[in-house]
Amino acid sequence: MTFVVTEPCVKCKYTDCVDVCPVDCFHEGENFLVINPEECIDCVLCVTECPVDAIYAEDDVPEAFMSYIELNAELAKRWPVIDHSIPPPGDAAMWAGLEDKTRYLIK
Ligand code: SF4
Ligand code: F3S
Repeated sequence: MTFVVTEPCVKCKYTDCVDVCPVDCFHEGENFLVINPEECIDCVLCVTECPVDAIYAEDDVPEAFMSYIELNAELAKRWPVIDHSIPPPGDAAMWAGLEDKTRYLIK
């Protein structure tokens, strides 16, 4: 199994999740993070760190976010690893809780 970053992360990118990951399997895009399914060891530590509840176990991903399973696998192959947290975007709080943010995802 693996854990998956989903739509709530788009334009929020708080990166609290990164600091607890023991195997550095987060990869950074311009306005979203993904998890490399080949590296994730299912430790669950990142799930409660995310202020916007963007991270799910692969088997529990909500129907509306199913496309993110493939997106995480695909984008992790070409985005760089991020191994420490960085400041979130200045308007992250404004985007938290908004729905239908997938159209803003920059790949
Ligand atoms: Fe990293 Fe554990 Fe989260 Fe997987 S479940 S991304 S290993 S912190
Ligand atoms: Fe995104 Fe949540 Fe991590 S907003 S960067 S999955 S802490």
